[in-house]
Amino acid sequence: MAASTAPTTPAARGPGVPRHVAIVMDGNGRWARRRFMPRVFGHKFGMETVVRVIDDCARRGIEYLTVYAFSSENWKRPDEEVSGLMNLVLVGVSKYLTRLAKDGVRIKVMGDRSAVSEKVRQAWNEAEELTKNNPGLTLTVAFNYGGRWDIVQACKRALAEGVLAEELSEEVLSRHMALAHAPDPDLFIRTGGEVRVSNFLLWQLAYSEMYFTECLWPDFDAAELDKAIAAYSGRERRFGAVLDKAADKAPA
Ligand code: FPP
Repeated sequence: MAASTAPTTPAARGPGVPRHVAIVMDGNGRWARRRFMPRVFGHKFGMETVVRVIDDCARRGIEYLTVYAFSSENWKRPDEEVSGLMNLVLVGVSKYLTRLAKDGVRIKVMGDRSAVSEKVRQAWNEAEELTKNNPGLTLTVAFNYGGRWDIVQACKRALAEGVLAEELSEEVLSRHMALAHAPDPDLFIRTGGEVRVSNFLLWQLAYSEMYFTECLWPDFDAAELDKAIAAYSGRERRFGAVLDKAADKAPA
């Protein structure tokens, strides 16, 4: 992997560039199969892609990047694949953490950490601790994460804090969600050709623009990111309102 040529601190965000991009990185398994390789080989290349995309996002002024690395449902995969993905966390942290930290990336991890091994927990803690004051792009890794889990854990935390039923609001719940450190995603990208959300950020995607591509995640590059941004910048975001009321009036 080539050394970084620019700091990963976000550049000024141009017009039409989303502030927060969330990605379902699908297609690693098929990418590997096409090369007659085990699925974990695809995930390994998928991780290299994440590192490249962090840099591509920062260069375009994207401030928040959230990636779905391991879902609450991924435990159902073959043992070899699950342990391969867990091992990738350890490899990824030891291989890339120093560089990402130097580039100014702030790393956050969201998901149920109680079910992962002590080693993986420590690796995530180390990544968060080392980068917590960094001023650059915020990378959030969803790991053992599910959108339904997130809503339930937010309710539990609010209740544990003593929030009363009549005090519960969207704003209160948002503050307890795992992604409370970031604004809601502007752009959701799913690679790999499937057209579904798969229990990712169910609460936070309420008004995100959705972009689906056939491109398999290990092949996702700067040109693919630019296609997604171009599609996003052509959308009219209404957030449930009507923007041009005059256009709907019948002619006099
Ligand atoms: C979905 O593709 C991908 C995953 C379940 C894992 C994503 C993980 C990475 C890209 C590695 C990055 C890791 C870290 C720790 C940041 P799939 O396996 O379902 O592909 P398929 O649909 O072709 O079978």
